[in-house]
Parts: sequence; C-alpha cells; structure tokens
Amino acid sequence: MLSTALFTCCISLIFLFPSEQLNHWSVKHGGDGWRVEKNKSVLEGADSQTCFVSSFGWCKKSQIIDLVQEGLWEHLLDVHQPPICISDWYAGRNDCSCVYSIKVQLLAADQQTVLQEFTMDPDPIPQWNDTRYYQVSHEFRHYGPGVRYVNFTHKGKDMQFWKGWYGARISNSSVTVKCDNLEPCR
Ligand SMILES: *[C@@H]1O[C@H](CO)[C@@H](O)[C@H](O)[C@H]1NC(C)=O
Ligand SMILES: *[C@@H]1O[C@H](CO)[C@@H](O)[C@H](O)[C@H]1NC(C)=O
Ligand SMILES: *[C@@H]1O[C@H](CO)[C@@H](O)[C@H](O)[C@H]1NC(C)=O
Ligand SMILES: *[C@@H]1O[C@H](CO)[C@@H](O)[C@H](O)[C@H]1NC(C)=O
Repeated sequence: MLSTALFTCCISLIFLFPSEQLNHWSVKHGGDGWRVEKNKSVLEGADSQTCFVSSFGWCKKSQIIDLVQEGLWEHLLDVHQPPICISDWYAGRNDCSCVYSIKVQLLAADQQTVLQEFTMDPDPIPQWNDTRYYQVSHEFRHYGPGVRYVNFTHKGKDMQFWKGWYGARISNSSVTVKCDNLEPCR
C-alpha cells in the first residue's frame, strides 16, 4: 500500500562536538574550570585525540541543537520520528578518582517542554584505575511529535578535591539523526 504523501529520505545527520574548543558550548566552570588537554589513552576512530578536562568542582557544559535549522523538517520529525542517537566518551586520570554525568533532553519548540530525557550517572572511576575511555550511548525512538531541539549536557569533576585538572576527561561527544531506515531516495 503506497501512499503518495510519503516523502523520501536517506540522510543521516551528525553533529560532532570537537574536543578542541569550548566555542559552541554554554559552559559552567567549577574549581579551576574546564581546559583542553591531550589524550592519556587512544580513542580509536575519533577525529580528535584531545579531550575536555574537568576540575575539582562540577564543570558542566551544554549544547542546544536546533534540528530544523540543521536541515530536518517538522513533518519528518513529527511523523517519522527518526532515531536520534547520542554518544559520549569519558575517562579518568590514573592518579585521581573522578566522576562524570550526562543528561540529554528532546525539547519542544518552546525550548522548555521536555518530551524525552536520557540521564546516566555512572559510578566514579576510582583512583589507580586505568585511563581508558568509557562510552555512554543512547538512541531516542518513538518520542512523539513536537521535538525541535536536543539539549546535550554533561559534567565532570575529580573526587579528591585536587587543585588543577584531575577530573573526568570527555571526548568525541556526538548526536546523530538516522534517517536511512526510512524510505529510500527517489
Ligand atoms: C594520543 O593519541 C595519539 C594518536 O592516536 C597516540 O599516538 C598517542 O599514543 C596517544 N597518547 C597516549 C598517551 O595514549
Ligand atoms: C566519534 O564521533 C563520530 C561522529 O559521531 C563518529 O563517526 C565516530 O565513530 C566516533 N568515534 C568513536 C570512537 O566513537
Ligand atoms: C575502572 O573503573 C571502572 C568503573 O568506572 C571499572 O568498571 C573497571 O573495572 C575499573 N578498572 C580497573 C582496572 O580498576
Ligand atoms: C539543558 O539542560 C541543562 C541540564 O539539565 C539545563 O541546565 C539547561 O537549562 C537546559 N537548557 C535548556 C535550553 O533547556
């Protein structure tokens, strides 16, 4: 049963947040604030091996993605509700324990109403742990009509209150909208 109202789509939008500058983030600095450092272990397949390092008070940053401005359209979002995937990577230093947390919200046009939310508060990484990156990922589906923005927020700090930058180290944060499961292009 073919409907002429069905339009086609084969795009897969990716918003990758580079780990080199704080420019596009709305930022809250705790302790000595965020800073960019080189990696302490390799993140395979990441464009940039740098990371954002948090301090001894909660360092937090957010990005609001305007999905329509990025090329999606209201009918697509409302009717097809393409999966919206988020991914983030965090790591610790070997010499200090740290903690990381993430909250991602799908917001309505008023930028206030939360239509779906994903949060994760992993256990702290203990002192004398390794420096490898841990991934957090989530796929939003069937979120209902009305989604227009993604609010991507994460934060980190160290757990030993050490001056400087001993907190969670964050890299290769991304939001991907997958439309390729829909009708093929004409
Ligand atoms: C950082 O990343 C680069 C490029 O992948 C790699 O060569 C280097 O070994 C990494 N540094 C550490 C300390 O793992
Ligand atoms: C880094 O992000 C990009 C864009 O989302 C993605 O293609 C790539 O697979 C990511 N790398 C890792 C290691 O997650
Ligand atoms: C590092 O900490 C994580 C928990 O964040 C744990 O799953 C992992 O086993 C620890 N690794 C080591 C070497 O202690
Ligand atoms: C985005 O989420 C963060 C964390 O919950 C919140 O502080 C901020 O106000 C939110 N921004 C908007 C525009 O809703």
